[in-house]
Amino acid sequence: MFTVKNDLLLNEVKETLVIGLFEKTTSFEGLLMEVDVAFGNMLSQLVKDGDISAKRGVVSKVPTLGKLEANRIFFVGLGKEDEFNFEHARSSFGKLFKNVKAAKLTEVNVLLDSFVTEKVNDLEAAHALSEAMTLATYKFEDYKQKSNEPEKELSTVIVYSNSDQNELQASLAVGYAYGRGTNSARTLVNTPANMLTATDMANYAIELATKYNMEYEILDKEEMENLGMGALLAVNKGSVEPPKMIVIKYQGKEEWTDVIGLVGKGITYDSGGYSIKPKEGLVGMKTDMGGAGAVLGAMEIIGELKPEQNVLAVIPSTDNMISGSAFKPDDVVTSMSGKTIEILNTDAEGRLALADAVTYAKHHGANYLVDVATLTGGVVIALGHHITGAMANNEELFEKVLLASHEVGEMIWRLPITDKIKERVRKSPVADLNNSPGRDGHAIFAGAFIGEFAEETPWVHLDIAGTATSAAEHDLGPAGATGVMARTLASFVEAFNDEE
Ligand code: BES
Ligand code: ZN
Ligand code: ZN
Repeated sequence: MFTVKNDLLLNEVKETLVIGLFEKTTSFEGLLMEVDVAFGNMLSQLVKDGDISAKRGVVSKVPTLGKLEANRIFFVGLGKEDEFNFEHARSSFGKLFKNVKAAKLTEVNVLLDSFVTEKVNDLEAAHALSEAMTLATYKFEDYKQKSNEPEKELSTVIVYSNSDQNELQASLAVGYAYGRGTNSARTLVNTPANMLTATDMANYAIELATKYNMEYEILDKEEMENLGMGALLAVNKGSVEPPKMIVIKYQGKEEWTDVIGLVGKGITYDSGGYSIKPKEGLVGMKTDMGGAGAVLGAMEIIGELKPEQNVLAVIPSTDNMISGSAFKPDDVVTSMSGKTIEILNTDAEGRLALADAVTYAKHHGANYLVDVATLTGGVVIALGHHITGAMANNEELFEKVLLASHEVGEMIWRLPITDKIKERVRKSPVADLNNSPGRDGHAIFAGAFIGEFAEETPWVHLDIAGTATSAAEHDLGPAGATGVMARTLASFVEAFNDEE
């Protein structure tokens, strides 16, 4: 896919040339000057007149009309040079590659130096390029008879830069891995629930683990019964699909110590159960395994990049259905931890599944926990569709997750857990906990409930109910699943031992 070359000779570039353009570029130097000369000084005039814009976010496709060997040039507006950062580089490349895809081009030649500034070096620009290309050109293979007929696809990206070729290739590979892992998460989330049952998800996990030589364990219903996973099993009671507890172990250190547990909500469909959702609320509930998607996407990135860390992925998976055998409000269930839970709302099922998964992650030696879940409608009201809600019982761990989220451009915002909140979660006349203390601030109750099972283990909770899907297309992908938090989790794992 990627080729790195050192010297760009203008008349050897065929097909498509890509050049980044900063605002107020008054004197054209080097290659830009050569292009300008070939165009009879028309390039500088077009920029001056605003026909080619250097504004960030504007991509101009300019035919060369036989003046150059290349057929066309994409000028990528980058805005003011001193304001340009890594995040801008990523979104600008995203815009570029959306245009490249729309034009059905198979080869592009990118002048990487034109994207490099004091703040964004060559290697960062290369990472931004490959990650953005992978994310922006993602398409879910749907089930329409017509739409999946083969199209021309981008297959060659030639990157021109005078930096070290091996280092550049390595950066391109890292961005590519981040993009691909995220796209895998997207595909899992976009897949309809009748095509992605808990068993299907387990099979996917087995394939992934096998590909990267990781150990795995899939618990079936009987094994869960023996372990006393009454919370996850309660959610599964109304279903004809067997539940699965999916575990993948990535050992990047000699010893199985300092284990990072990544726990992802894997509800393949959430009807709400007897506390059934209104019909508008049911549409989209195939995405209720977004946390599992993020964790599996992160494991793929980890498998590619092989950081020296120990990572344990735990995914509790089932659908939440209704039948004569389904669990009901008023039921009391006993979780693997021994804590009993009064069910007040069967639609608050995610925290039940996660409760046993968190306990099981600790059982397998997790010393740190990060859970990811499409957990509450409340977080969507609080933070909208661009910010993931976070909660934590440990400052240091939260800082690490926050830093990773900044690195990859996925925003998170922390919500508090207070003693009063804990009291509400623990209030029940018949059990240790209740699963739905009320609608006021219910995103916080849900997180605090999971915290009861993390106990003293450092833990961060990420509620992606608002961010797992996007109603509109964006610079780094189409409408639909975003794969959010796959990159944050992977980056968090990679940087886990870095000093701040
Ligand atoms: N899966 C939903 C949360 C959700 C809502 C995800 C919208 C994606 C988009 C979760 O299981 C749920 O139903 N939560 C309830 C909790 C309530 C019963 C306390 C909610 O948010 O209404
Ligand atoms: Zn629910
Ligand atoms: Zn749910």
